[in-house]
Amino acid sequence: MPQSSTVTVTRTDDIAWVTIDNPPVNATSTAVRAGLEQAVAEVQGARVAVLRCDGRTFVAGGDMSEFDDPPAEPHLPDVVQMIEDSPTPFVALMHGSVLGGGFEIAMACAWRIAAPGTGFGLPEVSVGLIPGAGGTQRLPRLIGMEPAIDVACSGKILGAEQMLELGGIDLIAEGDLDIAATEFIADLPDRPLAVSRRPLMAFPAEMIETKRTEITARARGQTAPLENLDALLLALRPYAVAQPLERARHLELRRSAQSRALRHAFFAERAVSRSASIALPRDIRSAVVVGGGLMGAGIATAFLTAGLSVTVIERDGEAAQAAALRVANLVGSALKRGKASEAQVADRLGRFQASAEYSKAAGAELAIEAVFEDVSVKQEVFGRLATVIAPSAILATNTSYLDPRDIFAGIDGPERCIGLHFFSPAHVMKLLEIVKTPQTSPEVIATGFALGKRMRKISVLSGICDGFIGNRMLAAYRREADYLLADGALPYQIDAAMRAFGMPMGPYELQDLTGLQIAWANRQRQAETRDPAERYVPIADQLCASERFGQRVGRGWYLYESGSRRAIRDTAVEAMIETWSHEAGITRRSFAPDEISARLMAVLANEGARIVEEGIAENDDAVDVVKMHGYGFPRWRGGPMHHAQATGWGATARIMQQISNESPGSWKLARRLA
Ligand code: NAI
Repeated sequence: MPQSSTVTVTRTDDIAWVTIDNPPVNATSTAVRAGLEQAVAEVQGARVAVLRCDGRTFVAGGDMSEFDDPPAEPHLPDVVQMIEDSPTPFVALMHGSVLGGGFEIAMACAWRIAAPGTGFGLPEVSVGLIPGAGGTQRLPRLIGMEPAIDVACSGKILGAEQMLELGGIDLIAEGDLDIAATEFIADLPDRPLAVSRRPLMAFPAEMIETKRTEITARARGQTAPLENLDALLLALRPYAVAQPLERARHLELRRSAQSRALRHAFFAERAVSRSASIALPRDIRSAVVVGGGLMGAGIATAFLTAGLSVTVIERDGEAAQAAALRVANLVGSALKRGKASEAQVADRLGRFQASAEYSKAAGAELAIEAVFEDVSVKQEVFGRLATVIAPSAILATNTSYLDPRDIFAGIDGPERCIGLHFFSPAHVMKLLEIVKTPQTSPEVIATGFALGKRMRKISVLSGICDGFIGNRMLAAYRREADYLLADGALPYQIDAAMRAFGMPMGPYELQDLTGLQIAWANRQRQAETRDPAERYVPIADQLCASERFGQRVGRGWYLYESGSRRAIRDTAVEAMIETWSHEAGITRRSFAPDEISARLMAVLANEGARIVEEGIAENDDAVDVVKMHGYGFPRWRGGPMHHAQATGWGATARIMQQISNESPGSWKLARRLA
């Protein structure tokens, strides 16, 4: 039989070397599984077989592009079993990431050798699955039930050192792995009992219940974490009975709505980054951030963490000092959270300065402003920057709502101007909206993406509209929530319905958390251009007028006791809402939680579809990624566009039509819904 090109077998003396070469991550695609099956046959007669991978990693998982189709032969559990049962025992020689199917293969080998820095995990949970080739059955037998729960239920990655300590690997090999394997084999220990035949190590029953409670609390509606726990507990039964049950459940879960949504999320994240390749990016090493308030300090921190030199420019010396303190605190917090060493923090702060002098911006390759949300203030900032900064330097705005074309009006070199819209807190939130103007050059767009990648963010390209992709969707969502308030729901009911749907918070709790003023100012700005036919519910304005700005002042849509973030229903606010409805001649009616979430989802999908139709977002994936990474949309729902797709655009269209009929003149329906 000819050798497969993805798996090759060579011999040196009595050692057979089995090498997988399936870039980029040596996934267990059909060709690899078939190649391994053949390799097991070919290595017979050798004293020992070494299984290793070319490229940057050991097998790092399954090939998810195959998961929508019925599984093709040979099946991974069978291949894994062949490796475990092979008369010629296998040594797994590992580097990079040993994940999912890769970890399952490794556990079937008689011995495991890993390079320092190798990571081990079962990330199936993150795509709504359980392992399907014995992962949940071998892992607790190999390292014990408790660490196995952490790995399978939360997707925790174990380092080589931890694996060695837990007895999951035999050796961490410094230097050349092949030499290490040869040395190991020269003094080969007795073949250990196959992992699947080992007895389960004892564990206390209470531990399972404690873990179950923790996992349930963290899962927020996602089912895979508990599915993994249940699968692990199958290991109380003999392997031969339990593994087929694991496999069957794995295949069922592949067809589940949650797994499809999570796989969609995974592919959508990859898809949005393709916009990065429209040109070669510039390498940015130094940046200036004008305005070191909430956002500016976060952006400066994100830049510093990504290795840039950063100058923050503030209004005066005192403001510069305050900004410097904010940045130092944010940079320092990485140390407290165990995310950076003392040396790293010192290095970051060594690349940072704050000043009131624009001349300090002179050498920067990129300038971003995060000053007040006021077009004239922003214009003045760029006017001053233009006099000191290189004519080619990239100029960026972090505006939430203003039109970048107005902000950059009159600036030389409009091709270097771009919006880089961060989300608060800017050093934490994953999303970056890259807002292009009609003149922004491909090189500058690509540089935005490259910078996003260096900051480990997920960047999404957006065109210009009020609020760009994310905040425009948020505005539609809030508007419908306000119509629900006006027509009969109360804030706590809407919030509870959205939490039940899977959002980390409902719209009113969220407003209280972030503060009501920015949106208020924005509504005032839009007042003149708002379509008079559009229904307008001024309840939020009334709250703001009575200085109920949210948690920070102890009252907003809810009441807050001093120092507490727990929202307490406020009868005064509820009475205010009811009075307003009454005065507006509305007969209030009740809304079931499912109706509330279905309406808010319909509005999001409609707005998302319009955003795509207008060319603001490149496609549905972009909209979904923005909502998941900027607004806490539950990943296991896949984003509003995927949700509409999965539940049927027809249903969305019907709900949207009803919403629109109830509030005539208030909604524009996407063409897709017609
Ligand atoms: P902030 O009020 O916390 O910070 C603004 C800072 O700019 C202040 O420190 C102020 O002293 C400084 N500043 C004002 N004029 C200046 C000038 N001419 N030169 C130098 N510094 C000046 O405001 P925040 O929340 O950080 O917002 C800043 C910008 O970021 C706004 O455009 C806002 O729309 C946008 N943004 C805000 C988000 C948020 O969640 N707060 C999210 C995303 C964007």
